[in-house]
Amino acid sequence: MDPIQNPFSPGAGSPPHELVGRDPILEQARILLGRIKKKKPEKSMLLTGLRGVGKTVLLNEIEYMAREDGYRTMFIEAHENKALGPLIVPYLRNLLFDLDRIAGVGDKVKRGLAVLRSFIGALQLTMGDVTIGLDIEPEKGSADSGDLEIDLPNLFIAIGEAAEDSKCAVAILIDEIQYFSQKELGALIMAMHKIQQRQLPLVLLGAGLPILPGMAGESKSYAERLFSFPDIGALSEEDAMLALRKPAQAADVIFETPALKEVFRLTKGYPYFLQEWGYQAWNLAATSPITLNTVQDATRLVIPRLDKNFFRVRFDRLIPSEKRFLRAMAEFGPGSHRTGDIASILDVKITSLGPVRGRLIKKGMIYSPAYGDMQFTVPLFDEFMIRAMPKLEKSL
Ligand SMILES: Nc1ncnc2c1ncn2[C@@H]1O[C@H](COP(=O)(O)OP(=O)(O)O)[C@@H](O)[C@H]1O
Ligand SMILES: [Mg+2]
Repeated sequence: MDPIQNPFSPGAGSPPHELVGRDPILEQARILLGRIKKKKPEKSMLLTGLRGVGKTVLLNEIEYMAREDGYRTMFIEAHENKALGPLIVPYLRNLLFDLDRIAGVGDKVKRGLAVLRSFIGALQLTMGDVTIGLDIEPEKGSADSGDLEIDLPNLFIAIGEAAEDSKCAVAILIDEIQYFSQKELGALIMAMHKIQQRQLPLVLLGAGLPILPGMAGESKSYAERLFSFPDIGALSEEDAMLALRKPAQAADVIFETPALKEVFRLTKGYPYFLQEWGYQAWNLAATSPITLNTVQDATRLVIPRLDKNFFRVRFDRLIPSEKRFLRAMAEFGPGSHRTGDIASILDVKITSLGPVRGRLIKKGMIYSPAYGDMQFTVPLFDEFMIRAMPKLEKSL
């Protein structure tokens, strides 16, 4: 069928035609935004889940909701090797400039700019050049101690007060939060703690891998009282079928039920994979309805495509010992596995796995759902590892 009309959208952050199965999360976000705007206390939200479950798409949708609700928003993506300070500064500067243009605002916005200026000054001292044109005198002694856990809360308070003064609410959305260091995450949590105590109209909405709740709890034990961590997972069979059926239906195309069941069996309901199968099946089908046969043909295209792209880019970032670790882990299939079992299948001491495991967690390849357990962050990665490395080597 016509590829131009193809309603499926495989790709990082590509909005699906139908955002299926996420109404409870969106409702929770709507309540949160409503309450913060009215200066009522509510836990901030950090969405957690594996890669390809739809966190970025949800965060974008929540940003849209926030704007509709009159919020000023900023959408920030954290990176493996980028510090929080320099990353966030340009967004805050733009926000304050924006607020500054609102007629009749008080002096809190000017103060916000001065505090931001001193925050940048401290960053320049600790991290070298942070070039942000900001032609304003710094407010000495505010947010310039050089300790992020002191400076970020002070900066956020100044921003929150500027927003309040301008009769605005601000939503800061941060994707891939797990890339921040423990210290940065701790500073962010402390900043939100202060904002909540003062009931300022500033809200944080984030998304990251399932290690996030653990990281947050380790940083600050009170994190779970400040944040909720909705778990974004695979779709149920019913929802997965809807995610294919509805976009097709809008173009008068139907999927036969056995075709849908087969896609669910293969994808286990993971949204990114649903989009891939839907996309290829659509292009392969000559006409409606899309049959089981077409889906089976699509599978022969999708698997090598995933192997070459989605899985391969992650695989290529690994060094040989990391690959061997993951290959051994794949031997046990999907789900979570004891580090001890991985050590015994590799025939090495459990202690010698520590550094490799640590690097794989840092690279976002695996996470620990419970002490001593390991799980892949990418769905179906176990099957890929076995295709990529058919033979298991018994060493690190
Ligand atoms: N609820 C959903 N229903 C159907 N498809 C979805 C849904 N959520 C996300 N997708 C699709 O899944 C893919 C991955 O989404 P993305 O937000 O990038 O995931 P993540 O940020 O968790 O890695 C995209 O192709 C998107 O269109
Ligand atoms: Mg994402």
